[in-house]
Amino acid sequence: MSDVVLSLRDVSRVFSTEAEDLHILRSVDLDILSGRSSSISGPSGCGKSTLLSIMGGLDRPSSGTVMAGQLDLGKATETQLASYRSTVIGFVFQSHYLLKDFTALENAMLPAFMLSGDRPGSERVARELLDAVGLSARLDHTPARLSGGERQRVAIARALVNSPSVVLADEPTGSLDEDSARTVEELLFSVVAERGASLVLVTHDPRLAGLAEVRYQLRNGTLATV
Ligand SMILES: Nc1ncnc2c1ncn2[C@@H]1O[C@H](COP(=O)(O)OP(=O)(O)O)[C@@H](O)[C@H]1O
Ligand SMILES: [Mg+2]
Repeated sequence: MSDVVLSLRDVSRVFSTEAEDLHILRSVDLDILSGRSSSISGPSGCGKSTLLSIMGGLDRPSSGTVMAGQLDLGKATETQLASYRSTVIGFVFQSHYLLKDFTALENAMLPAFMLSGDRPGSERVARELLDAVGLSARLDHTPARLSGGERQRVAIARALVNSPSVVLADEPTGSLDEDSARTVEELLFSVVAERGASLVLVTHDPRLAGLAEVRYQLRNGTLATV
């Protein structure tokens, strides 16, 4: 039996606006298993990014519990959440968020260097990951000199540089043309699996969602297995 790395129980998220309370997530239960890939799909605006933000410790549930091992994310301090985000989780967003004045290698190694202060060690891991995503020949390129697909491949290397248990990917190929999207998708699945991490992929694209081992659909704030 696989270990559960992240467990959500009865999780709800309500956004209160002046006009109304928006019940975006309603009593969501979800277990993320070690080393497995899961997808969460659903139409735009249904709460996919909200759910991923809660799993990644970027947002807190309005009610319910989110457990990552012994850490209760709803009750954790900001310091604990920051540590969780940098050591347990790797993030890949639709936008690459690379630093424009830094090279591919510097961008990929930065989270490791910030955590450990070990420059050679961080550089070694980042080089291995950039090699794994096929960018060995682009180490010294800044984002402006990379294609959209290459930028997302650097973002994938960066997400994995601290050996996270879980990679959370929010529409990771949403800004790419179809050919680069397929390359990036394949690399994302293979590199995450090779490193034994779990992948949680959020997408409105049914084809991409279908690549995951476990597939969920988010509709009207509730999660169903498909
Ligand atoms: N901070 C917020 N305040 C108010 N409403 C929000 C906030 N964040 C998200 N929402 C609303 O919650 C809904 C779900 O958003 P989101 O999780 O981004 O959906 P998705 O990623 O599936 O497109 C949207 O209607 C959005 O406008
Ligand atoms: Mg979204």
